[in-house]
Amino acid sequence: MALTVHPGAILPVCITIVGCGPGALDYVTPAAQAAIAEAEVLAGAARLLELFPAAAAERMVVGGDIPAALDHLSTLVGNRKVVVLVTGDPGVRSLAQPVIARFGRDRCNVIPGISSVQVAFARLGLDWTDARLISAHHHLPDMDFAALAAETKIAVLVGGASSLPWLLELARTLEATHALFLCQDLTLPREQVTCLTADQLAGWKLSPQSILLLVEKKLWT
Ligand SMILES: C[S@@+](CC[C@H](N)C(=O)[O-])C[C@H]1O[C@@H](n2cnc3c(N)ncnc32)[C@H](O)[C@@H]1O
Repeated sequence: MALTVHPGAILPVCITIVGCGPGALDYVTPAAQAAIAEAEVLAGAARLLELFPAAAAERMVVGGDIPAALDHLSTLVGNRKVVVLVTGDPGVRSLAQPVIARFGRDRCNVIPGISSVQVAFARLGLDWTDARLISAHHHLPDMDFAALAAETKIAVLVGGASSLPWLLELARTLEATHALFLCQDLTLPREQVTCLTADQLAGWKLSPQSILLLVEKKLWT
C-alpha cells in the first residue's frame, strides 16, 4: 500500500540538535560544523560552546538545571535557528532526549556525532556491536554486577570521582574474567587509555570524562 504524506500536517523544525564529538574539533563532522555556522542561537554546556569561538550566534549556557534550560529554550524557538550542542552522539545519554520530549520529535532535527564510546572501542581496535552500554554518569545504576560476567564487552560512562566506589565494586567483581581499560579525555591532548587492575583503579584520579571498558579476557589475549 502506498504511503500518503500530508505536507501540511508536518510542523517546521524548530531545533537542531548537533552531536559535537568527544571534545576535539577534528572529531566534529562537517554537517555539524555547517549547522553551527548557520545557528542564530547556540545552546549547550560551556565546554561545548567554547569549541566554536567563531560562531556568531547568541550563546546560551546549559548547566545542571535541565527543566530551567528547556523553559528558556522555549522562549527562543520560533523565528530563530536554535541549535543545541551535545557531547559525542545525541543518541548516547545526552540532552537530546529531554529536548525531543519537550519540543516533539517532528520539530527536532538530529545531526549525529562521533560518540566517546565509539572512540574508546576504536582505540582498542574492537568491534562494539555486541557491547553492553551502562551509564553511571548522572546516577549510579542499581545492578547485579555478577550477572554482567556473561557480557563479552561492557562500556561504562563514568561520572567522575563520586562514582569511584561503585566502579571499583564492578571492577573487582569482573576482573577475574574481564580486562579493564580506563579511557580518559578521549581525542583531547591529555587523552589516556590505560589497562589496569582494580587495585590500580582504586588510587586513580578519575577525569570527569572517563569510560571504563571491560573486555572478556578470552577476546583480548
Ligand atoms: C552525558 S554522557 C554523554 C555521552 C555522549 N553523548 C557520547 O556519545 O559520548 C557523558 C559521559 O560521556 C563520556 N565522555 C564524554 N566525552 C568523553 C571523552 N572525551 N573521553 C572519555 N569519556 C567521555 C563520559 O563517560 C561522560 O561521563
